[in-house]
Amino acid sequence: MNVPLLDLVAQYRTIKDEVLPALLGVIESQQFIMGPAVAQLEGEIARLSHARHGIGCASGTDAQLLPLKALELKPGDEVITTPFTFFASAGTIHNAGGTPVFVDIEPGTFNIDPAAVERAITPRTRAIMPVHLYGQMAAMERLLAIAEPRGIKVIEDACQAIGARRSVDGEWRLAGELGWVTGYSFFPSKNLGAWGDAGMMVCSDDRIAERLRKLRLHGGAKQYHHDEVGTNSRIDTLQAAGLVAKLPHVADWSGRRRQHAAYYSKAFAGLSAVTPPPVDPANEHIFHQYTLRVERRDALQAHLKAQGIGSAVYYPIPLHLQPCFAHLGYKTGRLPVSEQAAHEVISLPIYPELTTAQLDAVIAGVRGFYS
Ligand SMILES: Cc1ncc(COP(=O)(O)O)c(C=O)c1O
Repeated sequence: MNVPLLDLVAQYRTIKDEVLPALLGVIESQQFIMGPAVAQLEGEIARLSHARHGIGCASGTDAQLLPLKALELKPGDEVITTPFTFFASAGTIHNAGGTPVFVDIEPGTFNIDPAAVERAITPRTRAIMPVHLYGQMAAMERLLAIAEPRGIKVIEDACQAIGARRSVDGEWRLAGELGWVTGYSFFPSKNLGAWGDAGMMVCSDDRIAERLRKLRLHGGAKQYHHDEVGTNSRIDTLQAAGLVAKLPHVADWSGRRRQHAAYYSKAFAGLSAVTPPPVDPANEHIFHQYTLRVERRDALQAHLKAQGIGSAVYYPIPLHLQPCFAHLGYKTGRLPVSEQAAHEVISLPIYPELTTAQLDAVIAGVRGFYS
């Protein structure tokens, strides 16, 4: 049986009748730029994040870049982040004029290690950028306890974590609720995916919200009046309309991902060569990815491929070892937990529409390799 890593067509079939009329409505109105669906989506994503403001933008990358730009980083200003993430997490720091400072991750959750963050703070630290990797929140309360007394901003990368939550002092806190600014990506493969590129920032500080609204529109709240130099990073109205139509399904889709993850983890429990993804007991994971640590990873991946089973390695090279950051002076061995994870991780198909037969085929593929 073929089980692709991702099957967006399977999802399209289930929601076609809801999304196509929404897109058609935009086309018939011809309001392609900042049409009404943009404000609607902004309001709904802000609500879903327990935040006061949503500010649509062109991509998840821009949703990280614009708050970093708002910090007006000077050469030598540092932003602490994880090396075990998608490239944008560090590329945006560089492009905003700052220096990425990479610290190691927790071996269980793959998220940034707050103790390592604390050790890396210097007088030049301006921000901490945790990434809620694979759909599980980083230890936000510990990061805020480090950042807030020092006046350091926390910018959440929730590109993989829409609707993820974490229990803090007995209360659920959403991704996007606690950080200064939070970025989302609606890249098509995300739990809430557009039909192209799209992103969103959320925050609860009125002043930074206003600033971000300007930064995404060439630095001006009023057309042809520019208070500062921004860029064109609007969210497309067609994308916003499609996302508004898909939004009511997200909680159910993420719930199904959680069920699939539980099914896999139960099936892999007896395999000594395989470590299912641990969930921090404080977290509700949304399983954007289901990522195992395994022995002989590359051979397993080749075996799965031969059986028609898709998989992926997120991420094979930690960012501190990328050639473009060689000038920062990190050497192999400096961040061992991230480096080991890069050798051991493999992500399996986890999309909501997977059937039990498909899940069983994936499990048989993995078990067959190690038996
Ligand atoms: C953790 C993380 N950060 C940033 C991004 C960038 O988002 P986009 O591709 O929408 O620019 C992504 C996704 O692609 C991501 O997974």
